[in-house]
Amino acid sequence: MPDSAGRDFRCANCGDLLEFFFPGWVVDAPDAATLKALWLSRRSSRDPLDSSGVWRFRELLPHIPTEHAITLREGDTPVYRLRRCAGATGVENLFAKHQGMNPTASFKDTGMTVAASSAHEGKFRWVACASTGNTSASMAAYAARGDMNSLVLIPDGKISWGKLSQSLDYGALTCQLRTDFDGCVRILNELVRQKPVYLLNSVNPYRIEGQKTAAIELMEQLAWEPPDHIIVPGGNLGNSSAIGKALTEMLELKLISRLPKVSIIQAEGANPFYRCVHEFGGEKLEPIIADTLATAIRIGNPASWKKALRVLRATGGEVEEVSEVEIAIAKAEIGADGIGCEPASAVTLAGLKKLLRRGFVKPSESVVLMLTGHLLKDPDFTIKFHRGDLFAGTPDGSVSAETRSLQRAPIVLDASLGAVIAALDEAERNS
Ligand code: F0G
Repeated sequence: MPDSAGRDFRCANCGDLLEFFFPGWVVDAPDAATLKALWLSRRSSRDPLDSSGVWRFRELLPHIPTEHAITLREGDTPVYRLRRCAGATGVENLFAKHQGMNPTASFKDTGMTVAASSAHEGKFRWVACASTGNTSASMAAYAARGDMNSLVLIPDGKISWGKLSQSLDYGALTCQLRTDFDGCVRILNELVRQKPVYLLNSVNPYRIEGQKTAAIELMEQLAWEPPDHIIVPGGNLGNSSAIGKALTEMLELKLISRLPKVSIIQAEGANPFYRCVHEFGGEKLEPIIADTLATAIRIGNPASWKKALRVLRATGGEVEEVSEVEIAIAKAEIGADGIGCEPASAVTLAGLKKLLRRGFVKPSESVVLMLTGHLLKDPDFTIKFHRGDLFAGTPDGSVSAETRSLQRAPIVLDASLGAVIAALDEAERNS
């Protein structure tokens, strides 16, 4: 169905979400060597578009006139070697691409800069999204920068304070609906048919196009030598679709010579795509009522599952599910590497451990984890984990030695030098 501006993101025949290829760019694109040199040269340019880690790759993006481009200098996120996690998993070449280092602290900014710019070009006064918190934070920021109003639909009580506070400060009209993410999506889809509001969920193809740049940038950072595996969290499945699309396009343009396997990890309580692949052979996706403490991926009816399935099949990747305890441990391990991430991002490390046990990933192979959100997005989760409160009163309440070794609860002491020295000595004895 078209939105009220007549922009139709669904196929008129099958109702499937359209994969937008902006005609001409693959055939028109310069050759691989020219592209690589051009993109690299823009790193030292002062042009605001060149300073964006998204627009730097604009040859592979839909054309948007410069005067409409809204940028917060997104992208250009670091790739870190994870030394401790490498030790814990036995994968020596283990890296994290930290998308949480974007302006609003999640990967959403890479797609939002392109999609918000398209809304600006379309002269929309209002943009809107349903969200588990990161899309809304990002949308609200880009809308504010582009002098547009933003409407946020979020599930009441099921998103982190950090994310909620962002959309408030950026000035969004924030509606907490008494439903889950999937319920918010249903209402939003109805709304855009009745009101001149531009839809900024990841079914918007401009978002997917922008999110491709994380994979392009990653390949550039790895000197165009693809890793064996890329591991991505799976929620609404827009991100895995975007990464897969970027990789297949890069292969077509001979920017890379082979495809990494893209694997998608879900939380056990929010695993409709895992079930789609493992129970139904990819034939159908049965929506579920999702529940997980990794609220970013608390999604029971992912919009882009067919695209994500194509990515799995094209790259030979796998789907895994991980438990709440596995997520919490993995998050603390990524933190202990001095990097940190939000819970949804930590499913990648937890999933890697399972893929290793199954023999799908070999310790000798190189692996990149896509960390999608910053540690500070959900401090509540982190503090509860370290204080031992995260699973209190649940069947996961009994704490394993592995969990205990990662917990660092704050210690309240008298304001005396002796007390601090005693704490230091004890920590030294236990280390
Ligand atoms: N990681 C984080 C931190 C997220 O916020 C999301 C999705 C995902 C992973 C999953 O990505 O949906 O493309 O498969 N967050 C959306 C939101 C749904 O509204 O912020 P996906």
